[in-house]
Amino acid sequence: MRTYLVTGGAGFIGSNYIHYMFRKYGDEIRIINVDVLTYAGNLENLRAVEGRDNYTFVRANICDREAIEKIFADNEIDRVVHFAAESHVDRSIVNPGVFVETNVLGTATMLNAARKAWERPDGTYPEGKKFLHVSTDEVYGSLPDDDNAFFYETTPYQPHSPYSASKAGSDMLVKAYMDTYHFPANITNCSNNYGPYQFPEKMIPLMIHNALEGKKLPVYGDGMNVRDWLYVEDHAKAIDLVQEKGRLFETYNIGGHNEKRNIEIVKIILATLREVLPENDPRRAHVNEDLITFVEDRKGHDRRYAIAPDKIKAELGWEPETMFAEGIKKTIRWYFESEEWMAHATSGAYQEYYEKMYAGR
Ligand code: NAD
Ligand code: TYD
Repeated sequence: MRTYLVTGGAGFIGSNYIHYMFRKYGDEIRIINVDVLTYAGNLENLRAVEGRDNYTFVRANICDREAIEKIFADNEIDRVVHFAAESHVDRSIVNPGVFVETNVLGTATMLNAARKAWERPDGTYPEGKKFLHVSTDEVYGSLPDDDNAFFYETTPYQPHSPYSASKAGSDMLVKAYMDTYHFPANITNCSNNYGPYQFPEKMIPLMIHNALEGKKLPVYGDGMNVRDWLYVEDHAKAIDLVQEKGRLFETYNIGGHNEKRNIEIVKIILATLREVLPENDPRRAHVNEDLITFVEDRKGHDRRYAIAPDKIKAELGWEPETMFAEGIKKTIRWYFESEEWMAHATSGAYQEYYEKMYAGR
């Protein structure tokens, strides 16, 4: 039975990936999920898999060399899928240090532990050992507005935020291990994800939550920044496909040609909410565009991201399957049905974060 070590599996994309993998492979695989459970890690995301014999959760920090080496020593790990990271740009602007620690040093710890466990004395690796580093399109920097330019795998790195700089640093480490040690890895650089289990500090769940609560919808700057949105399950599928069929040592860009301006997204969310809310739901009274509030822009705000997914399409036949109109409806329905999840996510520390981040905005 193949064993996967998934890092950051209690977060947004990691938990969706774990659900996808068990739906696809059932009892054919084993997954060990290592996560330290920061504010963004939530075991409620994984309730449905908790009782499985082929699933184990280990609470550990990816920077903790001993703990990570022990997982490799105690288990025959075949695949690593490395999600664990500090992931929110706004937080990286306020507190960059932890981004360097987790994203750069944590990735180095994961690479060293995998190499130590896998590398043979002659410098080769057993067939089937693979490390997939999950990264972002933000490492490529920002594209000009209203341009037909796209991010390709060959686009030079030009990160602007402490978040994207730390992810760029981690990507460079993976590249260096591949070049220097012939370390069996892949890197995927994906565009913005949306879907169930996304922590409501990110734009889409934040806007859904605020609209339902009748709170203002804080749109940064002029609202004309462009992001290329991908339904999270399509990302999970792409990651699996790259590990199964991709060429080792290659980078694959993942994105869905679904570029939208932030203001458009907010308006789509409001319209979809009104469509989905029952006629007699009292929240209908306040779910409208009056909630939209333009606030002070994010520092160093990247203008436009747009992925060219040509390589993954041509080599692996991957294409997004969930179109935005359908995906956003599914997502909104999920947040509707998961009031308890949202209540837990937005209690306590979230309130403090929200008040600080949006004070004066
Ligand atoms: P997330 O913030 O929802 O989850 C991150 C997870 O990592 C959490 O469960 C957290 O507890 C865990 N974690 C953080 N620091 C850790 C540490 N030191 N040790 C162990 N676990 C730790 O993030 P996400 O949105 O699911 O993103 C996952 C990965 O995908 C990240 O590497 C991110 O850079 C990348 N990515 C995200 C997006 C996006 O749109 N969200 C797009 C492209 C790439
Ligand atoms: P976000 O979800 O934080 O993802 P990223 O910064 O990684 O792209 O933000 C998506 C876009 O939405 C980005 O251009 C910033 C903008 N945004 C707002 O306008 N208001 C908000 O409250 C947030 C969180 C983001």
